[in-house]
Amino acid sequence: MQKGAIKVTKAATSKWSSTDFNNLPFGKLFTDHMLIAEYKDGAWGDPEILPYGPLHFDPSLATLHYGQSIFEGIKAFRRKDGSAAIFRPYENLKRFNKSAHRMAMPDVPEFHFIEGMKHLLALEDKWIPNADDHSMYIRPFMFGTDEVIGVGPSSRYYFIIILSPVGPYFSKPLNIYVEEQYVRAAPGGVGYAKTAGNYAASLYPAKLAKDKGFDQILWMDAQEHRYVQECGAMNVFFVLDGKLITPSLDAGTILDGITRKSIIDLARSLGKTVEERDILIDELVEGYKKGTLTEAFGAGTAVTVSKIEVLQYKETKIRLDASKMSIADELKQTMAAIRNGSAADSLGWMVGIKD
Ligand code: PLP
Ligand code: COI
Repeated sequence: MQKGAIKVTKAATSKWSSTDFNNLPFGKLFTDHMLIAEYKDGAWGDPEILPYGPLHFDPSLATLHYGQSIFEGIKAFRRKDGSAAIFRPYENLKRFNKSAHRMAMPDVPEFHFIEGMKHLLALEDKWIPNADDHSMYIRPFMFGTDEVIGVGPSSRYYFIIILSPVGPYFSKPLNIYVEEQYVRAAPGGVGYAKTAGNYAASLYPAKLAKDKGFDQILWMDAQEHRYVQECGAMNVFFVLDGKLITPSLDAGTILDGITRKSIIDLARSLGKTVEERDILIDELVEGYKKGTLTEAFGAGTAVTVSKIEVLQYKETKIRLDASKMSIADELKQTMAAIRNGSAADSLGWMVGIKD
């Protein structure tokens, strides 16, 4: 199928003029259209753009029972010259298909994912916000649609892309609870896949942490509960002894974040030392006591770069001064400038929606 050949059925009415772009709560508002494609009989059908709206399913829909479902999170940004560009969507395509493989789902073709997304964004161009810290959040997802309650991979799937104009995910520095009892992922499991069950399993521990006044959980490794992993919706970075450190991906238990890899590349290009390695929570506590732990922040598509002010581990409250996190500030500002076109995209990250 050639670019431009995606069939479009326009919505009869638009929600755009009644949307308050000064008040965009994360992920609650959606644009007028969505892209949808169906996989059946061993092949993908053509993607199609339809008015955004409810889907109808049989109660036996396998995904509702066994969770064969994956998703991605991507952002498109308004640039200073008025055009719009997507941040590293090919990386998300790679990760999506890695998740699909782990969940026994079919690969999604590049055309459906990339051209589908560009086409949808071009149609919804006026919805892409242009204020600082605002963007268009892109949510591609896929789920099995067999109507059967026997356990097994579905033979049919839907691939869908929806768009949500968003403002900041967090409005202030974070208060994080270091989880010792519950775990997010174990070696051999699905921690590296962006699959629904990882998020479902996190909800109860996250609720307990929230009830204690924390914003997010910092997960630890499953075997020893001593090595730092990631948070519920972001990878983590620390500045220890002047070096930027982040947990390594080797165990396959944490998400290979696109923001994480971008921060690593950007920091190195700015001359900073970055280490991807196992990080003991005790090292962070010790660094805090000695004054060598100076910054902590999360990195993710939704959260961008979010500073961590408090890390509660057992009886120790690591309290850092967010106003002194100059490395986090520099990385966040440089990323924002590349995304909005006010700095050169020297690492080749941005893909114009009309390219
Ligand atoms: N870790 C988890 C569990 C996430 O949900 C996310 C968000 O996507 C991230 C890390 C950050 O990944 P990315 O930067 O690709 O959005
Ligand atoms: C993202 O950052 O895109 C995520 O998927 C995190 C989240 C909102 C679950």
